[in-house]
Amino acid sequence: MKKALKIAEGIYWVGAIDWNIRDFHGYSTYEGSTYNAFLILDEKVALIDTVKRPFLDELLERISSIIDPKKIDLVISNHTEMDHSGALPALLHIIGKKKPVYCSKMGKKNLSLHFQEELNLIEVKDKEEISIGKRRIRFLETRMIHWPDSMFSYLENEHILFSSDAFGQHYASTERFDDQVDKATIMLQAKKYYANIILPYSSLVKTLLEKITKLNIQINMICPDHGILWRTEEGISQILDAYNQWSEQKREKKALVVYDTMWHSTEMMAETIAESIAEEDIEVKVMNLRKWHRSDIMTEMIDAAAVLIGSPTINNGLFPTVSDFLTYMKGLKPKNKIVAAFGSYGWSGEAVKLINKEFEEMKLEVADPGLRIQFVPDKEGLRKCREFGKKIASILLDSV
Ligand code: FEO
Repeated sequence: MKKALKIAEGIYWVGAIDWNIRDFHGYSTYEGSTYNAFLILDEKVALIDTVKRPFLDELLERISSIIDPKKIDLVISNHTEMDHSGALPALLHIIGKKKPVYCSKMGKKNLSLHFQEELNLIEVKDKEEISIGKRRIRFLETRMIHWPDSMFSYLENEHILFSSDAFGQHYASTERFDDQVDKATIMLQAKKYYANIILPYSSLVKTLLEKITKLNIQINMICPDHGILWRTEEGISQILDAYNQWSEQKREKKALVVYDTMWHSTEMMAETIAESIAEEDIEVKVMNLRKWHRSDIMTEMIDAAAVLIGSPTINNGLFPTVSDFLTYMKGLKPKNKIVAAFGSYGWSGEAVKLINKEFEEMKLEVADPGLRIQFVPDKEGLRKCREFGKKIASILLDSV
């Protein structure tokens, strides 16, 4: 039997562990994930968030290890994306369809659109509080981090921040807390989560962190909707500091060379460019798009100052993996990057121009018009690659 886990007196983790998920709408979740939900026992029994629909039974089993689910008096929906709300209607059918669901204004709209069912949705405002007995819960609107409906719930008495997707990681484990897992592994997964989910809203993250500081609230635990919970002082400050740093997208002395290749010519260019940059004491990562997942490349991109993208020209266009990556990257709106394109071609050679067009749409700083080489790079071609790399290295070093 799957059991609830006590995280504080009267407060339980009752979520689900998804050991097998490997793709989360285009993000590779090779460590699986969890859908965290929390049960608070007071004069009223509150459930914070639910789980993805196929995990309803696991949620019910864990709740049942503590109380009869029908005793839940109210549900708080911090976020309406289906991995947290999918099980909500079925749960309400079991515990009572009229039980109130507290959510933000946009949460109310989204839940109505998702489920087309008459639910007892109660809209709460930023900083509004409810009492559930001895405890008070304060709601903090966190619009667009990362959906319009997103909000945090702060448990005043125990100083626990239920932070929805923010500060989460796609990481399945039997352990629940930051002091029980390898810190480097979990910080990498938190960084990957930021790079692939939160990155487009980085300016709002800055504002949110300032808002939390101004509220001057004590935080003893941060409970995100995915992955492990932050309960150590060191872990809490580490994840808050990391969000501060990632939201700035500060340029480090690091370059990414991302490419695909047909007959290894663009690959020769990529490796030669990378070597010439690395000679300037700059960290360089060379990432072949058929060997690296787009979401791992985005993780590396957060702190890179320069991003070079190479594509062969195929049928007057970009190589399909390069198009895929540029579409994904554009959606995540990286800022503050020096960029340039390169690629080998046979006769028409449009790839560099097409990559530059994408860079311009992303409003990134194009450091060079791009390097094109016909067919296989010869000695002169490789010299041009080194020269190209040195130019990027010099701009990068001036900018960090
Ligand atoms: Fe974990 Fe935005 O859902």
